[in-house]
Amino acid sequence: MMRKILVVFGTRPEAIKMCPVIHALKSLGGCVKVCITGQHGDMLNEILDIFHIVPDYDLKIMKPNQSLFDITVNILQKIEIILKSELPDIVLVHGDTSTAFSSALACFYLKIPVGHVEAGLRTGEIYSPFPEEFNRSAVSLISQYDFAPTELAQRNLIKEGKKPEQIYVTGNTVIDTLNFTIKANYKHKELQWSAGSRLILMTAHRRENVGKPMENMFKGIRKILDEYPDVKIIYPIHPNPKVLTIANKIFQNCERIHLINPLDVVSFHNFMARSYFILTDSGGIQEEAPSLGKPVLIMRNSTERPEGLNTGILRLVGTDSESVYHGCKTLLDDKNKYARISQKTNLYGNGNASEKIAQILLT
Ligand code: UD1
Ligand code: UDP
Repeated sequence: MMRKILVVFGTRPEAIKMCPVIHALKSLGGCVKVCITGQHGDMLNEILDIFHIVPDYDLKIMKPNQSLFDITVNILQKIEIILKSELPDIVLVHGDTSTAFSSALACFYLKIPVGHVEAGLRTGEIYSPFPEEFNRSAVSLISQYDFAPTELAQRNLIKEGKKPEQIYVTGNTVIDTLNFTIKANYKHKELQWSAGSRLILMTAHRRENVGKPMENMFKGIRKILDEYPDVKIIYPIHPNPKVLTIANKIFQNCERIHLINPLDVVSFHNFMARSYFILTDSGGIQEEAPSLGKPVLIMRNSTERPEGLNTGILRLVGTDSESVYHGCKTLLDDKNKYARISQKTNLYGNGNASEKIAQILLT
C-alpha cells in the first residue's frame, strides 16, 4: 500500500526508538519523511548521526530553560505548516513526550490519522510521571493505529475503550536498537577508570524529581559511596542545568562518582552491559536492562513498565534517601539474590518490532 508516512520525534528516547522504524519503513519501500522538532539538541543529533538519518524538517524549537508551554506552543505553530504542505496519510509519533502530544494534537486539528508507537503504557496517576502520563493518554485519544509493546499495554488500551482491531502488539523497538548497539569489544576511558570496581550506572532527570526528591535520592547514593570502597558510579547527566546543580551540591568532593556529559546511545548501552546494576528514574532503561540481565532500582514511586517487577530485576525504590540506600545495599550485600535476579529476559520482544510496524503500515 503506497502511503505517505511522516515520522515526528524530538527527544533522545524517541530518536533511539524511532530510528529503527524509519529504516524498516524505508527498507519496505515506504514513502517516508522525517520531521524532528528539536525539543532536544545535541542528544538528538548524535543519534541521527549514528543511524545515518537526515531529517527532512527540523523545527529547531529548543531553547534554554524551555517550559512545557514553550515546547507545546512552538511545536503546534511550526508543525502546522509542515503538515499542510506534506499532507501525509499517517503521522507516526512515539511514546509520551511533549513532542508526541503536540504533534498528535496538530494532526487531530487537521484530521490527519496518527500512528502511536509504544502505546498503552500507564501508571494510572496523571501526575506520575509528569507530564508524560497525560501526554501518552492524550495521544491515545487521537491515534488510529496503536503499536503496543506488550500485552499488558494492549489491555490498558482496551480498558480505555480503544477498538481491539486498531491495536497491534509488536514488542518495543528499543530492543531492535539494542541488538545493533551492543559490541563485545567496546572500550571507553570511563570504563577503564571503573575496572576492578562494582560499577553502578546512574541516570536521573524526571521533572517531578527535580528539587527535593532528587536531593534525597542523591543523599542515599552518597551514603553508599561513603560505605562501599569497591563501588564506583558513572552518572551521565541530562543537560537540564537544574539537575547538574543538585548533583554538584550532593556529590562534591566525592572521587568515586564521575558526573559526565550524556553518553551517545552506543556508549550508554555498552556501559549498561558492563555495569553491576543501574539506578535510574528513566523509562526506557527499564526496558533495556532486563534484556541485558542487569538489575535496576527505579527511583520513582510508580512505573508504567511493571513487566519487569515480577522477576525482581526491576525494583521500585522511590525517591526517599533511606529506601534508595537500602535498595542499593541489598543488591551489593546479597550475592545470592543478585545472581537470582540478574537473568536476561525478553520482556519486550526479540528485536523485530520495527519490522512488524512497517509491515502493518505498508502491506
Ligand atoms: C523530555 C521528556 C521526557 C524524557 C526526557 C529525557 C517531555 C515532557 N519529557 O524531558 O519524557 O524522559 O525528555 O530524554 O517531553 N535541555 C538542554 N539541552 C538538551 C535537552 C534539554 O539544555 O539537549 C534543557 C531544556 O532547555 C530544558 C531542560 O533541559 O530546560 C528539560 O528539557 P525538556 O525537553 O523540556 O524536558 P526533559 O526533562 O528533557
Ligand atoms: N541514554 C543514552 N545516554 C545517556 C543516558 C541514557 O543514550 O547518557 C539512553 C538510554 O539507553 C535509553 C534512553 O536514553 O535508551 C532513555 O532516555 P531518557 O532516560 O532520556 O528518557 P525516558 O526513557 O525516561 O523517557
